[in-house]
Amino acid sequence: MKHDFFEEVNHVSEIADDLMTFFIESRQEAIFYHDFVAKVIPRKIFLKDSFLSDMYKKYPFNAALLIMEPGTIYNWHKDGRRKATINMVVNATESICIFMDPSEEQAMVNHITELRYQAGSYYLFNTEHRHLVVNQDVKPRFLFSVEFHDKEDGSIVDYNDLEIENELFELSKVKGCR
Ligand SMILES: [Fe+2]
Repeated sequence: MKHDFFEEVNHVSEIADDLMTFFIESRQEAIFYHDFVAKVIPRKIFLKDSFLSDMYKKYPFNAALLIMEPGTIYNWHKDGRRKATINMVVNATESICIFMDPSEEQAMVNHITELRYQAGSYYLFNTEHRHLVVNQDVKPRFLFSVEFHDKEDGSIVDYNDLEIENELFELSKVKGCR
């Protein structure tokens, strides 16, 4: 049974180093993405990862590396139009990501659930629940994050869609039938 807020994917990223290299060496212009400075990651880079490649076949997406400055907070929010994503913190940082109990309104006291990111691990992330991120480190936090294309019927990929893919991925690994 999947967690309401997030699910760690049992797969070590095969492209974490490539992402950092791309960020440092690419002359591609940075963009602003939801108040983050970001660089769009070319498809040929992220498709080198077997998990991302499997996901992409079912639910195509764009991907970017988002930079969170040291000593900053990204306040309580839901992700607008985006209902789900796949996230990976690329570099180990002192940072916090928490979800608010969805039955609550934001108040002086709220109940929270933490996503303790392991650098280099992917997480299916339910962006329909209110969440908050703090980078209390002295260095920037680099987050790989995807934005799914709309489905063919025009609807938006949500967290429940990804659950099936994650299970299939685990199954395919067990059977070795990749
Ligand atoms: Fe968010």
